Amino acid sequence: MPRASIDACKVIELPKISDPRGKLTFIEEGRHVPFDIRRVYYLYDLPGGAERGGHAHRGLFQLIIAASGSFDVMLDDGGHRRVQHLNRSYLGLLVTPMIWRDIGNFSSGSVCLVLASEFYAESDYIRDYPEFLRLASEVG
Ligand code: TYD
Repeated sequence: MPRASIDACKVIELPKISDPRGKLTFIEEGRHVPFDIRRVYYLYDLPGGAERGGHAHRGLFQLIIAASGSFDVMLDDGGHRRVQHLNRSYLGLLVTPMIWRDIGNFSSGSVCLVLASEFYAESDYIRDYPEFLRLASEVG
């Protein structure tokens, strides 16, 4: 398995239809996201100072969208880090397997919408950072 890289975690611009009544964005499997969508979840009612994430996934692909408001996603592949600010409902951040992510700096009332390539499975999580670094250094 090639080593994961934060460079593969691209911001994808989704279709946006604007008219006087407001804006509409849609996402079609296989057209706008490079994985099959098995699950959708969202974070909301986030208290001030909330920190989410704090883990990596072994095999999961995700698209993270600031459906409302804004927040920061810190991406870490074990060698490099980057902070991606998300603040547009038509932008999605692709997060590939074996990328540690911390999500924070949520604006008040923000909603973090996530499309995921697999059903929820705790066995896919790596929640221990030293273990993540060890596994990340093994591949490649
Ligand atoms: P977790 O993924 O740790 O949250 P975050 O990355 O947003 O900080 O999940 C928090 C809890 O919710 C944990 O007990 C697992 C559970 N959960 C599900 O049952 N199904 C899901 O699809 C997700 C994402 C989490």
